[in-house]
Amino acid sequence: MKGVILAGGSGTRLHPLTRITNKHLLPVYDRPMVTYAIEALVRCGITELMLVTGGTHAGEFFRLLGNGHEYGIDRLFYAYQERPGGIAEALGLTERFVDGDRVVVMLADNVVERSLLPAVEHFLAQEDGARILLSPVEEAEHLRHLGVPELDGGGRVTRILEKPDDPPSTFAVTGIYFYPAQVFEVIPTLRPSGRGELEITDVNNWFVSKGRMEYDVLEGFWGDAGESIDAYYAVNDFVRAHGVNREA
Ligand code: G1P
Repeated sequence: MKGVILAGGSGTRLHPLTRITNKHLLPVYDRPMVTYAIEALVRCGITELMLVTGGTHAGEFFRLLGNGHEYGIDRLFYAYQERPGGIAEALGLTERFVDGDRVVVMLADNVVERSLLPAVEHFLAQEDGARILLSPVEEAEHLRHLGVPELDGGGRVTRILEKPDDPPSTFAVTGIYFYPAQVFEVIPTLRPSGRGELEITDVNNWFVSKGRMEYDVLEGFWGDAGESIDAYYAVNDFVRAHGVNREA
């Protein structure tokens, strides 16, 4: 299975910090944010990775990561996104890298306390379709900034709403996604959303509508450090106090 780390976007929610660097290069406790997502995947044995970034600070990722060996990556590839066209557009740039394989995608601002290995194993054991990871989030105000699943009583996702005014459950869709190679046939069919981006939630809803979306609920802490300045500090505080990416 291949791994994709998405580290693009303009990071407007963290302005003015992100006027001088890429959001995913900002420090989280004692190292750049992007290294946590890399560590999460590498610790699951996913060592063939492509990093997608864009904007004026893309070169800094080379300086930080180089060929990736220092981070346990076997082969590290890079792709450049010309404009912040959304998570799904960024994923589309990795098609030739993924080359018909399965892929796990992780947003480089997502930080997890526990190992992703159980979810990786569940995905590899599933015959077909995609898989998302949910995290329990109580506050409606927080959920209004995230993707939120609507769940039926039988353990299935019936649809995902992106940044809903009225969240249909108390779970967030985290930025960790598992796809079959067919995802690259779905992306070209998408239309830009209200914010002018190709939304990963539309990709996920395609799999939901075909009855081919599974999920796991993540245990332990999950944070999106790019969501707001408060979320950024909450993630920093957690990492500093407890550490993350614990071994399974
Ligand atoms: C993205 C997704 C959203 C998800 C979030 C997790 O939001 O669109 O569904 O809950 O990542 O980090 P964005 O950060 O692009 O606003």
